[in-house]
Amino acid sequence: MRKPIIAGNWKLNKTVAEAVEFTEGLKKQICNINRAILPEVVVAPVFTSLYSVGQILKDSNCIKMSAQNCYWEEAGAFTGEVAIGMLKEVGCSYIIIGHSERRQYFSETDEMINKKAKAILAADVTPIICCGETLEQREAGQTDSHIKSQIEAALDGISSEDVARSVIAYEPIWAIGTGKTCDSVEANRVIKMIRATVSEIAGESAANSIRILYGGSVKPTTIEEQMAQSDIDGALVGGASLKVDSFAGIIDGCMKVKA
Ligand code: PGA
Repeated sequence: MRKPIIAGNWKLNKTVAEAVEFTEGLKKQICNINRAILPEVVVAPVFTSLYSVGQILKDSNCIKMSAQNCYWEEAGAFTGEVAIGMLKEVGCSYIIIGHSERRQYFSETDEMINKKAKAILAADVTPIICCGETLEQREAGQTDSHIKSQIEAALDGISSEDVARSVIAYEPIWAIGTGKTCDSVEANRVIKMIRATVSEIAGESAANSIRILYGGSVKPTTIEEQMAQSDIDGALVGGASLKVDSFAGIIDGCMKVKA
């Protein structure tokens, strides 16, 4: 069975002090839970908090850390960028790439996402590759073709073994931060389509291993229904990951269904 992942994407939120307080609070709430039933729990703080959060998490393996972005070069004249090795050094085992906010506001392209995915996998870190359609694309019946092309571009030239250990997050853009969750049956249908696309690219075994998350207004009240779907392997959570109680509520809901 695929181990579920509940990942909190903090976006541009929390000072170092707030990130530390949250992490200590979450650790108290979940780190005594039996690891066999606990999903993989991931937090994604802003760059400035990664070192401090990493220090709190380094002795426990109950919470993992993700960055929200990276650059594909190891070092050099790339002002403002952060290298994957540097993120790994402070304790990141995941890196989110291709989030719709980065595509929309920072002009991240499919080619850039593919370069990042390759570099992340080469560094033995796990990419969380985001994809999703706009409301206009959905209404025009372009959801499946758009997502298929995003996945094909992101995974281009990546070996089956590396695809198998990657993570994809399906996040319909109209559901992000809007309070409008995608219907769970429909989210599962799109995720099955993504899995079929992965199978075409990297084979059935990689498609059966890769974990595909749903993201977009996930809350403690929606998670059980989402996790009850056959192909939804977890959640990428924005707004509801910012408070310990609500994030812990989502972890709890996941365990009720998938443990
Ligand atoms: P949301 O964000 O849960 O606030 O909708 C999800 C995301 O953007 O990853």
